[in-house]
Formats: sequence, structure tokens, C-alpha cells
Amino acid sequence: MTEVRALLAGTGVCVAPVEVTNDMLARVVDTSDQWIRERSGIRTRYFVEPGVGSSDLGVEAARAALDDAGIEAAEVDYLVCATMTPDHYFPGSGTLIQAKLGLPPIPALDLRQQCAGFAYGLQTVDALIRSGLARTVLLVGCDVHSSLIPWDELTWRALYDPEVKIDQARREWNLRFRHLVVLFGDAAGAMVFRAHRADDGRGILASRLYGDGDNKDILFVPGVGSAKRPWVDAAMLERGDSVPHMDGRAVFKLAVTRMPETTRRVLADRGYGVEDLDLLIMHQANLRINEAAQKQLGLPDEKVHNNIQKYGNTTSATLPLAFHEARQEGKAPEGALVAFTALGAGLHYGTVLMRM
Ligand code: UT7
Repeated sequence: MTEVRALLAGTGVCVAPVEVTNDMLARVVDTSDQWIRERSGIRTRYFVEPGVGSSDLGVEAARAALDDAGIEAAEVDYLVCATMTPDHYFPGSGTLIQAKLGLPPIPALDLRQQCAGFAYGLQTVDALIRSGLARTVLLVGCDVHSSLIPWDELTWRALYDPEVKIDQARREWNLRFRHLVVLFGDAAGAMVFRAHRADDGRGILASRLYGDGDNKDILFVPGVGSAKRPWVDAAMLERGDSVPHMDGRAVFKLAVTRMPETTRRVLADRGYGVEDLDLLIMHQANLRINEAAQKQLGLPDEKVHNNIQKYGNTTSATLPLAFHEARQEGKAPEGALVAFTALGAGLHYGTVLMRM
């Protein structure tokens, strides 16, 4: 019997509209363009206007991906949404996107694997299509990270208006989160997949994904959850416990080892080596991480695509956003072997392999 695989049919993205430069951040946080560029490679990131949720970006990316694929929304029979910043505590953004697309009730699954969310989404799409449960799957990764930044109204105004100044108390509060706010941005990316007879070897080929709760503490949100009663209160907000706590160095070290490790592993699963890879799309958390991972794998520059310089870390949107650009630049033609790798809070990490 011929195997069925998930073949990519289209991609789309939606980036938040408001550009925020490193110099703008330096108005409200003790940082500098030089520090941010040297440590992370980031030059700009984009934030939404207040009131725009991750599903709003997600639905735009989804529409663009459907257009690109030439597929009517009504043909989608399964929706998978990865986000760590859902519009609401519950439900997730999946059914919000389904409704905004005007789709009838279909299965709408939410994944919350943070920066590895889209990679888990690819594995889920592979399983849904190969099992015959779905034939046309829409996968969306969307995050509005700016919603997690605990700044008050005046700080937000000062970010955008150089005439507005903030006092020392605000600067001290903002300092506590500077290692986070310099890194993240808001965006969404989407892919549409179709069931495809795999005789030509195309489609999602394999995945190696891992969850490692022993490393949960290096990146997590301590408050706002069922481990607390009530799950949110004023004291929690005053402590900054609604904001992710991150041991940046620890995350950095694990990312530079585990992304290359799982990439080699998934390639080997299919009898390939690194030399067979045409394109590696890595999670965009820090350009230095990706440069180190690329070096470990011995990949030339033309086989890697980074865009963190422009967008920052957009969490579950990084993989589709980077891939969309790479594809537009002709780096992923039909038949190309592409790997998607990511590591993020959980920890969740791993690599998915796809033949275009
Ligand atoms: O998607 C997964 C999510 N996260 C990641 O992948 C993060 C991975 N880690 C990183 O990207 C890096 O660890 C960071 C960019 C977050 C930080 O870079 P680092 O080289 O590890 O810096 P550090 O935290 O060790 O801090 C070095 C110095 C410290 O000052 P002292 O103690 O040497 O005086 C920090 O206080 O830099 C200071 N610092 C800053 N200075 C200016 C930390 N953040 C900033 C900042 N601007 N934004």
C-alpha cells in the first residue's frame, strides 16, 4: 500500500506593525544597541498595538498561507495552533482562529510547547495525516510576547515618544526584565499541509522531539497557574512572577548542544548525514546560539537562514517566519531536504525533517 505523507502546500506570515529599535528600548531600560547586537544579533523587533491577541496575528498568517497554497479555508479539516500567549487563559487560540476564518466546527488543537511549539506542530501534522485522521491541516504558530512585558502606561508611552521620560523607580522595575524584553517580538507564521502519496519521497519524513522537565526551572513563569491559590493576585504581580524567569546562560548552553544533536539524530533515522541537508531552519532565540549550532554541524551559510536580526525571538512563529523568507529567496525548492529545529521552555526541543 502506498504511504501517505504530509506535503507542504503553502506558507504565510504576519508580523506585528510597530517597529521597535534597540535605541527605543534604551529609553526605558538600561541597555544599549551595542549590547543587544553583540549578545543576541537583534536590531529590531515588532510589537502589536494593545488589544491585539495572538489569534489576530495567527488568522492573518493562516489566510496568507491558504492563499499561497490556493486552498479554500473550507477545505481545512484540522487546525493546530501553537502559542504560549493565548488570547485568554482558556480557551487556547485554536478555536478563535477557526471562528475568525469562518470555518465550521472542525478539530482545533492547541499546543503549548513555547519556542518548540511549531516543531511539535509539525510532528502532530505528520501523525494526523499519516494516520488518515486529516487530509488538509492548517498549522499556525502565533505569539504576542509584548503582552507579557509588565510595563505601565507611562513606560509604553516613553518607548514610543522620546519627549516622555520615566522616573528612577520605573527604570529600576524595568531593569529586572531587561534580559527578556530585548529578545522578544510579536508575529505569526502558518503552513498548510495536504495528504500526499509518498512515492516521490516528499513530505514530513521524521521527527525527534523531547520534553525534559528536569530543566523546567531555567525558563518558566512562576506565577499565574493552578499551583497557586488564587492563580493570580496582586502580590504575585508585584514580585514580577507573571513574567518568565530565565537563566539565559543555561538555556544558551542547552540550545547549542541539543539542536545540533537532534538534527544529526533525525537525519540518521532516515539514513542521511548533515551533508544531505539543503536547509536548516533554527529557532530564532539568539544569533550566537545559531552560529554556534551551525558551526557544530559544519553547515555553510547558504544552508542556514536566520532573521532574528529583524524580528527578535517570536517564539512559536520563528520557524515558519524564517522558513517563509528562505523559501521566498529560493532556498527551499521542490525536492529540497529541510530540517526545523528548536529548543524552548519546558524544556521542549528537537528537530523535524521534511522533503519539499
Ligand atoms: O527561546 C528560548 C528563550 N531564550 C533563550 O534562548 C535565551 C538564551 N540566552 C541568551 O540569549 C543570553 O543568555 C542573553 C542574551 C539572554 C544574555 O546574554 P549573556 O551573555 O548570557 O549575558 P548575562 O545574562 O550573563 O549578562 C552579562 C551582563 C550582566 O552584567 P554584569 O553582571 O556582567 O555586570 C547583565 O546584567 O550583561 C548585563 N545585561 C545587560 N546589559 C545591557 C543583561 N541583559 C542586558 C541588557 N542590556 N539587555
